[in-house]
Amino acid sequence: MTDRYAVFGHPIAHSKSPLIHVAFARQTGQAMTYEAILAPLDGFADSVAQFIAAGGRGANVTVPFKEQAFALANRLSPRAEHAGAVNTLAFDADGIFGDNTDGAGLVADLVRNLNCGIAGKRILLAGAGGAARGVIGPLLDQHPAALVIANRTVSRAQELAELFGHGIRACGFDGLDTPFDLVVNATAASLAGELPPLSPRLFTADTLAYDMMYGRDTPFLAFARAHGAATADGLGMLVEQAAEAFYLWRGVRPDTAPVIAGLRQDRLEGESLAASPLRGLRT
Ligand code: ATR
Repeated sequence: MTDRYAVFGHPIAHSKSPLIHVAFARQTGQAMTYEAILAPLDGFADSVAQFIAAGGRGANVTVPFKEQAFALANRLSPRAEHAGAVNTLAFDADGIFGDNTDGAGLVADLVRNLNCGIAGKRILLAGAGGAARGVIGPLLDQHPAALVIANRTVSRAQELAELFGHGIRACGFDGLDTPFDLVVNATAASLAGELPPLSPRLFTADTLAYDMMYGRDTPFLAFARAHGAATADGLGMLVEQAAEAFYLWRGVRPDTAPVIAGLRQDRLEGESLAASPLRGLRT
């Protein structure tokens, strides 16, 4: 029987994961299938159990089930423990293993695809929700000179700073006005077409502004660009977190560059923005 994989989410129709994993499987010659499963909002664990009973070997997990996947796993990787959320499950004789590849995906996109080394850099992480928490550990592993977490609700940034230690500074957006090498937008503001209240002085010609959302230009990226920064959206992160999951399951690293290029090309060619499944999404 061909090995089965899937992505669970609600909604799920927009998900690019089947496209990405089918491309990886074809490229690496792996015999596997990958499908999108719409789990009921109150039925995530049951859906996963049914999939395992039907021969499922692994799964990705997206909104709103990443915390439930964390609770469901009976073994966790250290990076999933730190993230407090799971986006990748592997099923074997020992049960359910939970991992989180989101942070590794961000780091791979920054370092390998965008040539933006993190070691020794000053990083501002905007946001203190699940998306921010998922990437802090992998960013710290790269030894930045400084990591500042800025959030509208300062107490949430403080909680994350305490959780991770390492001298992380937590603050609100007010009064933050010195330049950073890298500004990562992990707030949900872009999903609502909003701009976090950032000072233009955070950005210089040497800054990379990275939005974890993908699929359209965001107010954050437009603002950063208008103040001289280079910009990148989260499409590369999406593909890189998938590659990391693929590696966990199959032990083979796919070449991500043609898949990223293919997804960008699809977007440029056919899809009207309103109908695009790439419109305003996060992993
Ligand atoms: P996610 O899993 O996407 O991170 P979340 O846990 O609900 O979702 O967190 C959303 C994050 O986006 C929070 O940091 C939130 O700020 P608050 O903690 O102050 O609520 C941030 N956010 C959402 N809309 C925002 C906006 N318009 N401007 C700035 N920050 C915003």
